[in-house]
Amino acid sequence: MQRVLRFPEGFLWGTASSSYQCEGGNTNNQWYRWEQQGRILSGEECGNASNWWMRAEKDFELAEQIENNALRLSLEWSRIEPREGKWDSAALDRYRVMLTDLRQRHMKPVVTLHHFTEPLWFADRGGFTNNANVRFFVRYVTYVVEALRDLCEFWVTINEPNLYATQGYELGAFPPGEQNVARTLHVLSSMLQAHVEAFYIIRRLQPQAQIGYCLHYRLFDPANPHSPLDRSAAALQNKFFNWAALQAAETGSFPFPFKPLLVPIARAAGARDYHGVNYYTREMVRFDPTVPAEVFGRRFIRPNATRNDPGLDASFGEIYPEGLYRVLKTVHQRTRGNKPLYITENGFSDTRDDRRPRAILEHLAMVHRAIRDGIPVRGYMHWSLVDNFEWNNGWQVRFGLIEIDPYTQERTPRRSASMFGEICRANAITENIVERYAPEAVEFIFGKTQTVPLIV
Ligand code: BGC
Repeated sequence: MQRVLRFPEGFLWGTASSSYQCEGGNTNNQWYRWEQQGRILSGEECGNASNWWMRAEKDFELAEQIENNALRLSLEWSRIEPREGKWDSAALDRYRVMLTDLRQRHMKPVVTLHHFTEPLWFADRGGFTNNANVRFFVRYVTYVVEALRDLCEFWVTINEPNLYATQGYELGAFPPGEQNVARTLHVLSSMLQAHVEAFYIIRRLQPQAQIGYCLHYRLFDPANPHSPLDRSAAALQNKFFNWAALQAAETGSFPFPFKPLLVPIARAAGARDYHGVNYYTREMVRFDPTVPAEVFGRRFIRPNATRNDPGLDASFGEIYPEGLYRVLKTVHQRTRGNKPLYITENGFSDTRDDRRPRAILEHLAMVHRAIRDGIPVRGYMHWSLVDNFEWNNGWQVRFGLIEIDPYTQERTPRRSASMFGEICRANAITENIVERYAPEAVEFIFGKTQTVPLIV
C-alpha cells in the first residue's frame, strides 16, 4: 500500500518573496544606495529584479498552476511614502491590482509590511536606531492597512528583525554596515516595539486579521557535544541570535545578559496571532578565545554536510531538515504553545535543482512530524517562487522554484516546481511523489519498513 503523509485540512501552501528582491525599479530605499556604493559582492545591481512591478501577475499565474493557496509578498514602504508624510496613491493602486489578482486565483495574500528595505528619508533619520522613529512605521502601517484591508487579512509586520539587526549593525554586511553590538540590540528592541505598536493598530482597524512577525531561526550546535566550552559557546550564539528576540517579543524583556542594557518592550505579551518561522540552516560552533567579536565561538559548516550550492559562504551552508523540526518544537515550547505556527520561509540555493526536491521533501516530512507531535503548524511558504535578487549576493544565489534569466526575464520552471505542485494538490507527500522526485529520501520520510502503512 502507498504510504502517505497527509497535512491538515486548510493547510496553507505557498511561496514567499519580498518587494526589493522581486519588483525591480526600487531606487528610493537604503538598499539601492548600498548597491550604488558598490556593496553587492558580485558588483551587480538589482535593476528590474524579477520585474514584478510590471508583470507579477504572470508569475502569480504560475503559482496558481502549481496549486498554491497562499502567496507571501512585501509592500515597498519607499514607494508608498516616498517622502516623509507624502503618499503615492498610484503605488497603492498597483498593490491593489496585485492583491486582487491573487484573490481571483484563490491564493491568500500574506503581506509583509517591512522586509529589510525602508525609505531613504527614514534611514537618514537613523531608522530603528532611534526609538522615536517607530511612530513613522506605525503611521505607514495605519495608512496601508486602511487602504488594503478589504484585500488582505494576513499581515507580517516585520520580517526577521533579528537578521536585519545583526547583519546591518553587528556584522556590517547589510546597510548601514555598522559593527556595534550595543546598537544591534537597540535596533532589535525598537523593531520589536514597532511590531507591537503595529499589531495593536491593525487589530483595531481589522479585528479579524491574522497579525504576526517572523524571526530567522538558525541553529548553532556545539562542534563537540561533549565539550562544555563548545556547548556554552553554541548556547550563547543561539541565545543571542534566536532566543533573545523570541523571548523579548513574547514577554517584553530580554534575557540575561542583555536585559540591563535595554528598556522593556511595552505591551508585548499577547501581541501576535501566530509565530512566523523562517528556517534555512545550522552552523557548528567551536569555542575559540581568539574571536571575542563572535562571543568566543568560531562558526563553521559541518564537514561532510549536505550543502546548498557548494562554494557559497556560510550563509547558505548545510541542508539540515531535522533543524526545522527542532526549531518548530523549541518555538512551540518556549511560547508555551500559545499560538499556531506558520513556516513563513524555508528554501535552498540550488541553481541546478539537483538537491532541492529532496530537501523540500525532507523538510516537509519534519513539518509533518511536528504536526503529528501536536504542534499546530498551519502553513508552509517556500522561499521562493521565482529566482530573485538575493541581497548582497545578487543573482549568484538561486532560490526559485522557477528559474529566471535576469537579462531576458525568461522563466523556466525547475523540477521542484512541479513536485511542489503535486504536494500542494494532494495536500500530502505520497510515496509515489517521493519515488519519482527523490527516491533516495524514501527511507528518511517513511522509515525502513514497507509493511506498516503510515497514513496520518
Ligand atoms: C530573507 C530573504 C532571503 C532569504 C535567503 C531570509 O533571511 O528573509 O529575503 O532571500 O533569507 O537568504
